[in-house]
Amino acid sequence: MKKILLTLSALLAMASYSHAEETIRIAVDVPYEPFEYKAPDGSLTGFEIELGNAVCAEMKVKCEWVIQAWDGIIPGLLAYKYDAILSSMSITPERAQKVAFTNAYYNTPTGWFAKKGSHFDPNDKVAVKGKKIGAQRGTTQDEFATDNLKDADVVRYGTADELVIDLYNGRLDAVILDYPVGETTVLGGDKGSEYELIGKPFQLGEGVAVALRPSDKELVEKFNKALDVVKNNGVYDEIRKKYFSY
Ligand code: ARG
Repeated sequence: MKKILLTLSALLAMASYSHAEETIRIAVDVPYEPFEYKAPDGSLTGFEIELGNAVCAEMKVKCEWVIQAWDGIIPGLLAYKYDAILSSMSITPERAQKVAFTNAYYNTPTGWFAKKGSHFDPNDKVAVKGKKIGAQRGTTQDEFATDNLKDADVVRYGTADELVIDLYNGRLDAVILDYPVGETTVLGGDKGSEYELIGKPFQLGEGVAVALRPSDKELVEKFNKALDVVKNNGVYDEIRKKYFSY
C-alpha cells in the first residue's frame, strides 16, 4: 500500500511538474513592424510579441516563438508545427472554417501607400489599369487587391519588407498593407518623406485574433480569459501605448 501511495504521489508530482512546464509554440511571420520584428540585438519584439508574452504569463505557460512564413502559416498550425498563430491574422469567414479564432485583440485597418504626386487612386478603374501593386501573398490585402483591382498587376511578396524595398526602388506603383505596418515601414523608412497614405485606412476582416486548432477548444477559452485579464488590468494598454499613438 505504502508503495502504491508513493508511486501515486510521484505520478501526481510529475503531472503537476509537466503542467507547470507546459509550452505553447506560437507562430509569427517577421518582419512585420510594429507587430513583430527583430530588435538590433536579434531578439524578437513588437506589439504582438509583448502581448503574447503577457498572455502566456497570465496563462502560466511557457511560450516559444516560432518564425514561420505567412504563406503556409495555417497549414503549419494544422500540421502541429506549433500550437497558435499570433501574427496580425484578421478574422475572415474563410479562415474561420479552418482555424478557431479567439476574440479580437486589435482592430487593424488597411492602407494604400504610394509616392507623393503619383496621383495613385485605387478607386479609379481606368487609372489603375496596368499599375503594379504590391501585397503580401495570402493576406486579406492580397485578396482585396486581386478581387477589386482586376486590371491592375498585383505583385505578391513573401514578406512585408520586400514590398517596401520595391516601392522605394520604383518597381511598384503602390502597396496595400496593414496600416500600422505601412505607417512604420513605408512612411517611417529612410525615404518615407517621399511617400504618402492614399485615401483613408479602411477595414478588411473583423479585427485580428489568435488562431488555434479547432480541436483545441480549451486552449481557445484559456486565451480568451487571459486576453480579458490583460485588457482589464492595464497591461494591454501599457503595451499598446508603446507601439501605437492611437
Ligand atoms: N492582417 C492581414 C491578414 O490577416 C495581414 C497579416 C500579415 N501578418 C504578418 N505577420 N505578416 O491577412
